[in-house]
Amino acid sequence: MKRIAAILQSDPSMVEITIKGWVRSFRNDRFIALNDGSTIHNLQAVIEPENYDRDLLDQINVAAAVAVTGTLIESAGSGQRIELQATKVEILATADPEEVKKTILSPKKHNLETLREQAHLRVRTNTFGAVMRVRAALSFAVHKYFQEQGFYQAHTPIITGSDAEGAGEMFRISTLDPKNPPLDEEGNIDYKQDFFEKESNLTVSGQLEAETYAIGLGQVYTFGPTFRAENSNTSRHLAEFWMIEPEVAFNDLDANMDLAEGFLKSVIDYALENCADDIAFLEKRQADEDKQKPAAERSPMPLREKLEFIGKNNFKRVSYTEAIDILRNSKPNKKKKFKYPINEWGADLQSEHERYLVEKHFECPVILFDYPAKIKAFYMRLNDKDANGNETVRAMDILFPGIGEMVGGSQREERYDVLKQKMTDMEISDEELGWYLEMRKFGSVVHSGFGLGFERLVMFVTGMGNIRDVIPYPRTPGNAEF
Ligand code: 4AD
Ligand code: MG
Repeated sequence: MKRIAAILQSDPSMVEITIKGWVRSFRNDRFIALNDGSTIHNLQAVIEPENYDRDLLDQINVAAAVAVTGTLIESAGSGQRIELQATKVEILATADPEEVKKTILSPKKHNLETLREQAHLRVRTNTFGAVMRVRAALSFAVHKYFQEQGFYQAHTPIITGSDAEGAGEMFRISTLDPKNPPLDEEGNIDYKQDFFEKESNLTVSGQLEAETYAIGLGQVYTFGPTFRAENSNTSRHLAEFWMIEPEVAFNDLDANMDLAEGFLKSVIDYALENCADDIAFLEKRQADEDKQKPAAERSPMPLREKLEFIGKNNFKRVSYTEAIDILRNSKPNKKKKFKYPINEWGADLQSEHERYLVEKHFECPVILFDYPAKIKAFYMRLNDKDANGNETVRAMDILFPGIGEMVGGSQREERYDVLKQKMTDMEISDEELGWYLEMRKFGSVVHSGFGLGFERLVMFVTGMGNIRDVIPYPRTPGNAEF
């Protein structure tokens, strides 16, 4: 069966076709706006009311499902090139207007919070239809990019015994009775009696397992759900999000940056080419929203222009040390406008600092690299101390306007002794990550990778301001509805 996206591209024809979809509006007992989810645009079906029972006409309501048969003719009305001249209408499923009125399916403007409360219905609105089509296209573009570059997808485990980021933000998995767990001799919960006979968790990242696959398949990527029990109730954090993690043997940090930049440009280009109608709709939506906002909070560029800008400009590469200098001497720092003032080297960058660098200082995506070892994960490759005796690691973060951190990655510590020392210093046990260390004994080479938070990419491409509105069913602190 042809879908409306394709129908709207076709020419008038005498061949009879049947279209199934949901009613978006019904005017004057004559004009049905039909949507089947394949495009932001509706197909107008025109019926002759005289040919139908009142009973049937009364069932052509918003949200009802119908099958309309007819032929495609040039449209006399403005607003569409082509329309369906109907010869037959069949009601496939009714929707009671009184019930519809109580939901977000009623044809009026609903705010995003209300839509979130009815997440099971929201994909039937224009905004969420557009966002989710773009999300699906971006997902395909991710696989397309890596497959074309000769990467293998590695399916890393979702249940794991290790804390890949060492940040202790994991959700525990257990089949023990929470009311009456077995205890060991010291009175602690005896995980030996648990399903996996040890403590286990939902993964925070597939990186460590992906590394073992890169040292073998050469270049791999993961694309799967990851879980973080961080209590960050922000518009950029989810407890369950999808992450893309490429890992490449023989790549150093520069090659890693090249990969990340090329990849981001490619998938954004794909969306521009393949989601033009949805992006146009979302651009208009954003412009309408901006009108309600103070000038300082408005998007500096229309959505499409912003996306095209990414493809046309090199990301600015700046070391952490340079960034700290810029921030220290910045106006907001001197005028004490930052919530966290930047006084010395070693400070962790907060989102206010990242946003200043990207949105005010450089006005383009920025790759920050060579971070202080102290504020980064244990697996990152240690640099030689700099002239001031500062210790940095070969880390990189890619910061995007309006988003902040889009990508986090690094060159990995491939030297057995250095890694062993680091793990000892950070009290990471052999029991937990001995396998990760052991890999460094056998042909361990320079390798690098990064993680892209898929929802942050979808936010950027759709212009949506809240991460809860780019994933079908967001999981956040205090919320696992649906
Ligand atoms: O910077 P992160 O924590 O890096 C890692 O997990 C590495 N293991 C990646 C790697 O090198 N293979 O997370 C990577 C990205 C962030 O830059 C951000 O885009 C996203 O994942 N992210 C989140 N997205 C939504 N909600 C959260 N709570 C997120 N935490 C991280
Ligand atoms: Mg990070």
